[in-house]
Amino acid sequence: MSAILVLNGPNLNLLGLRQPEIYGHTTLADVEAMCVAHGEAHGHHVTCRQSNHEGALVDAIHAARGTFEGVLLNAGAYTHTSIALHDAIAGTQMPVVELHLSNIHAREPFRHKSMIAPVVIGMICGFGAPGYTLALDALFGHLGVTT
Ligand code: DQA
Repeated sequence: MSAILVLNGPNLNLLGLRQPEIYGHTTLADVEAMCVAHGEAHGHHVTCRQSNHEGALVDAIHAARGTFEGVLLNAGAYTHTSIALHDAIAGTQMPVVELHLSNIHAREPFRHKSMIAPVVIGMICGFGAPGYTLALDALFGHLGVTT
């Protein structure tokens, strides 16, 4: 059994309400329940956290070391700005899969750049809420714990 952290960043607590034409109608509670159930179905323990604060996300990545085998991260807008998140991932060497509900490359130019992309295993984007289970499967595969 592997322990996985699903970490969501700023404004993702508003899922379901926030621009549903872009992010869909699924709430964060729904997404988290789906991730926990998907983990259980594959014999893994998924813990979910969300913060609107960059430093809290950095702290969560630091704390993940030694507690979790891997992290699924939707860093929200900090994706495009945060050298601190880049450095936290690089510094802890945590295996991280980057996830976005929307296709960031099909949106405004400022969303095309991900500061964390160079230090993650890979990125899933554009598949909405089901992308979380795709990203978990990618993480299980990377960790060699596919059932
Ligand atoms: C997002 C994409 C980001 O550009 C945006 O700032 C978000 C959500 C996504 O899941 O599509 O907050 O990460």
